[in-house]
Amino acid sequence: MKNVGFIGWRGMVGSVLMSRMIEENDFSVINPIFFSTSQHGQPAPAFAGHHQGTLQDAFDIEALTSLDIIVTCQGGDYTSDVYPRLREAGWQGYWIDAASTLRMADDAIIILDPVNQSVIEEGINRGIKTFVGGNCTVSLMLMSLGGLFTQNLVEWASVATYQAASGGGARHMRELLTQMGMIHNHVATSLQDPASAILEIERSVTDFTRSGTLPTDNFGVPLAGSLIPWIDKQLSNGQSKEEWKGQAETNKILATPNIIPVDGLCVRVGALRCHSQAFTLKLKKDIPLTEIEQMLGAHNPWVKVIPNDRELTMRELTPAAVTGTLSTPVGRLRKLNMGPEYLSAFTVGDQLLWGAAEPLRRMLRQLVG
Ligand code: HSE
Repeated sequence: MKNVGFIGWRGMVGSVLMSRMIEENDFSVINPIFFSTSQHGQPAPAFAGHHQGTLQDAFDIEALTSLDIIVTCQGGDYTSDVYPRLREAGWQGYWIDAASTLRMADDAIIILDPVNQSVIEEGINRGIKTFVGGNCTVSLMLMSLGGLFTQNLVEWASVATYQAASGGGARHMRELLTQMGMIHNHVATSLQDPASAILEIERSVTDFTRSGTLPTDNFGVPLAGSLIPWIDKQLSNGQSKEEWKGQAETNKILATPNIIPVDGLCVRVGALRCHSQAFTLKLKKDIPLTEIEQMLGAHNPWVKVIPNDRELTMRELTPAAVTGTLSTPVGRLRKLNMGPEYLSAFTVGDQLLWGAAEPLRRMLRQLVG
């Protein structure tokens, strides 16, 4: 059995990865070795059903070079520090990473096997050893709209995202919930009084939100009851880094010979862990809607086409319905007034599952046979 080292298994993405690996019995086909950046020497977790000795030092290059495969959810700083040293030391093992650091490197493949299995296989055969999970919005878009993208039917895609707090990290989720609770507490008494005036309650909430009282260490500004139309760094061309990733990663995942333009606005909203996205797609030709629905639904086992019906949409195409599942539904499909090649679509997906952990465990499974 292959020796597989895990780093960053305790964080949010790492925890989701561990629980998916337990559910799929992945530990039965590997010899797992758990590493820690801060607590080496302490007992290792028993995810594999039996004790794994002690935690190893995640910065011990010699210990790492003895591994066949490394799976890391530790983050970009760890990757930037350790990965080059490992490769310089001549390590030839497989590196599977959730962080974005290595995604666009020529010798790395962005993994999303239901969409780009042929690219992954071709990479393995070519001797590629570095496999990186994609940006969550990109992966979730392709899980939902893969039927059109992989048939090369998309001329361009314009998107507005509705991204959950979890995309920022665990602390961001806590901050959002704390803000929500504080706002509610602030007006709880008036809310209970049916005779109270709603605009007075609103004014009180607005004043409170602007007062600087809410914790904003992570988001920088209040998110509860609001939204933030900027995610990640500012680039010199006016895009956010998150928006830049849309086109760059989509085209790398699909290995497109000609770039498909993908652009839009990325927005943080008060959802917990599901990213939603509203698309305008310009198709290369006028395809009947029933054919589009059929192609989308047949692309992979996780996508589900939600008929463009009010009740079904409200019940099935929301973060509340999708969170914690591997389902990547797509709905609100209709031809737009702009013409028969213009299609609207709305997608929802759990950014910790298909958006982060799931492609990693499936890549590992593929490498261990
Ligand atoms: N960058 C994403 C976000 C999450 O902030 O929502 C990870 O891909």
